[in-house]
Amino acid sequence: MQKLRDIILTFGMLKQKWLPKMEKIIIAALSNNTVIGNKGKIQWHISEDLKRFRRLTLGKLVIMGRKTYESIGKPLDKRVNLVVTRNREFSGKGIIICQSIEEALEKSEKYGKKIYISGGEEIYKQTIDLADRLELTRVNREVEGDSFFPQIDYNKWREIFRENHKDFSFVSYERIVGK
Ligand SMILES: NC(=O)c1ccc[n+]([C@@H]2O[C@H](COP(=O)([O-])OP(=O)(O)OC[C@H]3O[C@@H](n4cnc5c(N)ncnc54)[C@H](OP(=O)(O)O)[C@@H]3O)[C@@H](O)[C@H]2O)c1
Repeated sequence: MQKLRDIILTFGMLKQKWLPKMEKIIIAALSNNTVIGNKGKIQWHISEDLKRFRRLTLGKLVIMGRKTYESIGKPLDKRVNLVVTRNREFSGKGIIICQSIEEALEKSEKYGKKIYISGGEEIYKQTIDLADRLELTRVNREVEGDSFFPQIDYNKWREIFRENHKDFSFVSYERIVGK
């Protein structure tokens, strides 16, 4: 019995050491004043942004808060949808319900190696320190809103990609090793 336990423990340690680690990517669109939404909605309609979101996340996992899920109203197609809620009664077709972010990350390991953390404010706040990459759409205007992206500590992030458009930019950051 002890031997079996040792084998399981060793296997777990090897798995942690050698398997590629899960990449946690925050994907968000924010205005100059860091607004991401107002009254449950996003105030801009940028079709290039929607297309980019779809292109990046297709076939991958997406994690979102219950409020964001409800504002979309249905699971995102061709993606594994994990919805975080503390409400044990919450249910929905085509989604995986998780009682915590830790549970969502743990469950994700079964489905893939890239998770897109897709909002909203509460979820971004709790995951910005865990994320490996930020895929941001910087909307070049000030807007009124009630939901915000958390403060970004630029000492911890390196810009690795930028594509400027007239009214917005796509900007990617990766976490600086050790930060
Ligand atoms: N611009 C963008 O890129 C973007 C992207 C996504 C969303 N948004 C906007 O963001 C706004 C929504 O953000 P929000 O902060 O109000 O809501 P949210 O983050 O989408 O969802 C919040 C809910 O998630 C659940 N939750 C949060 N932390 C949890 C935890 N640790 N464990 C278990 N459950 C947890 C709770 O659900 P229960 O109450 O059910 O327990 C909580 O009420 C909307 O305006 C939306 O349009 C913008």
